[in-house]
Amino acid sequence: MNILIAYATYSGNTKEAAELIADCLEEAGHAVGFHWIGGEPVPDVSGYDALILGSFTWAEGSVPEEVKDFILDVGYKPPNTFIFGTGDTQFGLFCRAAVKLARFYESPLPPLKIEQSPRGGQEEAVREWTHHVVERLVCGSAIAD
Ligand SMILES: Cc1cc2nc3c(=O)[nH]c(=O)nc-3n(C[C@H](O)[C@H](O)[C@H](O)COP(=O)(O)O)c2cc1C
Repeated sequence: MNILIAYATYSGNTKEAAELIADCLEEAGHAVGFHWIGGEPVPDVSGYDALILGSFTWAEGSVPEEVKDFILDVGYKPPNTFIFGTGDTQFGLFCRAAVKLARFYESPLPPLKIEQSPRGGQEEAVREWTHHVVERLVCGSAIAD
C-alpha cells in the first residue's frame, strides 16, 4: 500500500513519531510518503491508499492552525485516515488535538497519544498502533467498522 504520513511539529516530537511510524510501515513492506504540514506544499492526498495524520496539541487542547489549514487545503475527508498525536500531560487536555481530529475524520482506530518524544519507553506503543493500522488496511475493514 501507498500511505501518506502528514505531521505538524514545532519542537520535533511529532516528527520523531512520524519517522517511527514510517519505519514500521516500511518494515511491513509499504511505501510511505512524508509531508511536513506548514513546511511544504500540500501533496495530492487522493494518490494514497491511506492518510496518517499527526499533530501536537496547542494551547488549551487546541488543534494547531497549520493543521486546520491542511485540512481545508486537502478539501475532503479521506476515508482511511488514522491519527496520532504528541502532547504533555502537565498541560491537561492531553493530546486533545488528536482526539478532535480522530472524531472529525471518523477514524477507524482510536488516536495514538504520545507523551512528548516517542523514543524509549513509548516506541512499543507506536509499533503496536502502527501494526493495528496495517491490519485494518490490509483486511479492508478500515471503512466497514
Ligand atoms: C504553549 C503550549 C501549549 C500546550 N498545550 C498542550 C495541551 O493543551 N495539551 C497537551 O497535551 N499538550 C500541550 N502542549 C505540549 C505539546 O503538545 C507537546 O510538547 C508536543 O509534544 C510538542 O510537539 P512537537 O515537538 O512536535 O512540536 C503544549 C505546549 C506548549 C508549548
